[in-house]
Amino acid sequence: MSAATGIENISTILVIGAGTMGRQIAMSAALAGYSTIIQDISTEGLAAARTELEVWAAGRVAKGKLAREAADAALGALEYSTDLDSSASNADFVIEAATERLDIKTQIFQKLGELAPAHTILATNSSTLGSSKVAQVTGRAAQVCNMHFFNPALVMKCVEVVRHEGTSDATVDTTMELARKLGKEPVLINKEIPGFIANRLMGAIQREALGLAEAGIASIEDIDTTARTALGHPMGPFALMDMVGLDVIDFIAQATYAESGAPEDAPDERISALVAEGKLGRKSGSGFYDYS
Ligand code: 3HC
Repeated sequence: MSAATGIENISTILVIGAGTMGRQIAMSAALAGYSTIIQDISTEGLAAARTELEVWAAGRVAKGKLAREAADAALGALEYSTDLDSSASNADFVIEAATERLDIKTQIFQKLGELAPAHTILATNSSTLGSSKVAQVTGRAAQVCNMHFFNPALVMKCVEVVRHEGTSDATVDTTMELARKLGKEPVLINKEIPGFIANRLMGAIQREALGLAEAGIASIEDIDTTARTALGHPMGPFALMDMVGLDVIDFIAQATYAESGAPEDAPDERISALVAEGKLGRKSGSGFYDYS
């Protein structure tokens, strides 16, 4: 029997990891009225997150898209901490968005299992590691699942809620409901599968786009334009890969391929080569496109 909390008992949310995803997930929670702790081992990472969120909130207020009071309330609901122990013991719901490494996540989930209150649900934002990989070390496997957000998390509506074999219905229900409270449209994935739904769809489009460019059928610009103007995608596959980060795309492909072994999931050599050259997309100034 799972003792997973119901949505009505959630007041404090802990987001572990102040990176690109964690900081925006945390802000989504704060905007929804939750006391939200962002925990990271790096004080620089926490400071960068605070600055980005303050700038983002000021921009929304200036644009007239967010009332100043709401922005101030959300910023005030955020607490920044390097202390996982005390953060965990105060959390009703945890979303882990730390580095995509199993050893790191295992350590974190072990600690969460020991320190978080018994009712607390432990979710991972991981796109590559199913929660079954960390569920057992928590001693509360039924209260563990994936809760996968998309970049930029303050904008994208989708949250993939992925249950492992032992995730309880109560955990799924509360996680789906929490996603809705955060203004998202959650989808439920009943079985862990490499790439879940969205990254599998994205991978298929990217493979086709890379193949067309490689064969000289069209330029990357024209392929991107086609995705936007013919299919209504907000951005083309090459621009999207640059935004997500080519290192992230490469890492997802490697992890997916390692698990599925399917030839179509194999990492793309051109992307691996760009990563080796330090061309990681927007964040490094160049990738498929030049942003200098
Ligand atoms: N952070 C927060 N908000 C952002 C943002 C960011 N990085 N980038 C854009 N926005 C907001 C803007 O403030 C703006 O808000 P408003 O309309 O309310 O004023 C809105 O998004 C639209 O922005 P722009 O007008 O500047 O630009 P676009 O209309 O081109 O939208 C986009 C930008 C939202 C990024 C859009 O191009 C898009 O949806 N692209 C596809 C993103 C996508 O597919 N993400 C999934 C990636 S895969 C993933 O995350 C999985 C993981 O496992 C890798």
